[in-house]
Amino acid sequence: MDRYGVFGNPIGHSKSPQIHALFAVQTGQVLSYEALLAPLDDFPAFARAFFHDGLGANVTVPFKEQAYRMADQLTERARRAGAVNTLKKLDGGRLLGDNTDGAGLVSDLLNAGVTLAGRRILLLGAGGAVRGVLEPLLAQKPAALIIANRTPSKAEQLVQEFAELGSLSASTFADLAAPVDLIINGTSASLGGELPPLADSLIQPGHTFCYDMMYAAKPTAFCHWAAALGATTRDGLGMLVEQAAEAFELWRGVRPDTGPVLSELRRQLR
Ligand code: ATR
Repeated sequence: MDRYGVFGNPIGHSKSPQIHALFAVQTGQVLSYEALLAPLDDFPAFARAFFHDGLGANVTVPFKEQAYRMADQLTERARRAGAVNTLKKLDGGRLLGDNTDGAGLVSDLLNAGVTLAGRRILLLGAGGAVRGVLEPLLAQKPAALIIANRTPSKAEQLVQEFAELGSLSASTFADLAAPVDLIINGTSASLGGELPPLADSLIQPGHTFCYDMMYAAKPTAFCHWAAALGATTRDGLGMLVEQAAEAFELWRGVRPDTGPVLSELRRQLR
């Protein structure tokens, strides 16, 4: 059977096997997809061994940068991201590295009816998660994309690297006050139930849309804060499903219908 999987460490809680199994049933594709616990000290050898017969793999924490380095060929968005979340075996055994995270975010925002073109967008964080989504977000031509981070130098570094792609600027949290159309939380603060120190004035009630790239059974601290101020909120479960759909299409040439899969995952999360 055509073999796929996801590399991570830890990997036990990954939802990817379930998402891809649902995609396969829905599209009538016959394939297997496994969660693969890769060793922290020897990821490249483990991945190479999988690709003796494996056709494609997703890559998650902490291996996305190593997957980027081992890919023989990169898509432009993966090159910009400096990280690979999807590997595909090409004819002859060479590995193509792609990054579908940003496309997943953009698709999920568009699914939610959010307009990106011409809007003022605030992006919180400057780590790997944010780097991975910058190129696809800028491709939507927002009027302004502001990166704010606890460590300002990291936001400034990203602005230097991506400035040629659009209207990009850096800020500290403290300097943010004027309302924006969309706030995307790409910090890992939600993992610890924390929230970056943000002014309430950033949210225009009934207008500002707030998106957390993290998700949980209960609203994240960021979504909780935003909803209390009258913003519409959405968590990152849809981004997870959309990045998977993008990978599935790269491997199989078929685009799954993500709506029913997201509904099923949400039902199980609650
Ligand atoms: P990831 O791959 O998830 O992006 P990362 O590269 O470690 O992980 O980046 C984590 C991001 O979350 C960083 O932008 C980090 O801010 P710093 O660069 O200042 O470290 C941010 N972050 C983590 N915890 C935070 C908190 N409690 N408040 C604000 N920002 C936080």
